[in-house]
Amino acid sequence: MNITFRQLQIFESVAQHLSYTRASEELHLTQPAVSMQIKQLEQSLGLSLFEQLGKKVFLTDAGNELRRYSSAITTQLDELEQMVDEMKGLQRGRLTIAVATTANYFVPRLLAAFCQRHGDVTVSLEVTNREQLLKGLVENRTDLVIMGQPPKDMDLVDERFLDNPLVIIAPPGHPLAKVKQIPLKRLLEETFLVREQGSGTRSSVERFFAANKLALSTPMEMSSNEAIKQGVAAGLGLGIVSLHTLSMELALKRLEILDVVKFPIMRYWHIVYRNGKRLSLVALGFQEFVKKESRQILKLPAA
Ligand code: PGA
Repeated sequence: MNITFRQLQIFESVAQHLSYTRASEELHLTQPAVSMQIKQLEQSLGLSLFEQLGKKVFLTDAGNELRRYSSAITTQLDELEQMVDEMKGLQRGRLTIAVATTANYFVPRLLAAFCQRHGDVTVSLEVTNREQLLKGLVENRTDLVIMGQPPKDMDLVDERFLDNPLVIIAPPGHPLAKVKQIPLKRLLEETFLVREQGSGTRSSVERFFAANKLALSTPMEMSSNEAIKQGVAAGLGLGIVSLHTLSMELALKRLEILDVVKFPIMRYWHIVYRNGKRLSLVALGFQEFVKKESRQILKLPAA
C-alpha cells in the first residue's frame, strides 16, 4: 500500500465537506488536483471511498472506515508536531555552560544580566578547573566554555573577551606591601600558596617563573582561590591569583596586591565551543552577549 499523508489530508477535507469544490478551496488546490489525489488513493487501496448520487457526494463504507483511521493518524501527527515544537522551545531556552573556577567570580553577573533580558532561559553552570573543562570539551558535554587558555590542539571557535591579570597577594602589613617595583628574585625568599595541578592559574604561573628561570618555594597547594586567599590573609604565605577574585578582599582591605616587576601576568578570558557544534539559539545569544557586553556589565573600563 502506497499512500501519503497529503492524500489522507485531502481525503479528510473531502470527507468532512462531502464536496470536492469546498475541499479544493480549503486546501488551496485546484479541483482536478483534489480529484486526482483521491483517485490515486482509491487505486492504492483498491477500494472506492466516495460515491456520487446526483449532485451529492457520499462516503462509502470503506470511506467511513478510512476516515476513522485517518483522523487518528492526523491527531497523532498534530501531537508529534506539538512535541517537536516543545522540544525545540526547550532547547532554545537552555544554556549549558562550563567555566573555570576563577571565572566564577564574574560569570554569574553576566548570566544574571542575560537572563533578565531573555526571560525563560534555563541555565546549567558547571564550575571546574581547566583540566576538567578540557575533558568536557572533548566529551562534548557542554555548549560553551569560559576558560583562561584554550588548547591549541583542538578545533575551537574562540573569542577573547576580557583580560585576566594575575597578581601577587599578601596580608595587610606584609613587609613587601610598601615596596615599589619588587624584583622578581626577591620572591625567592617568600613562601607561596599555589593552586592545584590542573588549574589554569597554576600552569600559567609555572610557565612564567620557568621563563624567568626562577624556582619559587611552593610548599602549599590549595584547590580553590578562596582557600588561597584565606591562607594568605592568615599569614601562611603569599599567593598568586586572578584580580577578578579579589574585589571583596581589596574593598575590605583584607589583602594587598604587591608591586612586583613584570607583574601582573597578563592573561585573557576566552569563550569557546567546538567548531561544528550546533549551538542552540540561546547559547549563540549568550556568546554574542559575552563578547559585546561583558565590560559594560562588569563595569570595567574599555579595553
Ligand atoms: P583556573 O582558571 O585556574 O580556575 O583553572 C582557569 C584559567 O585561569 O585558565
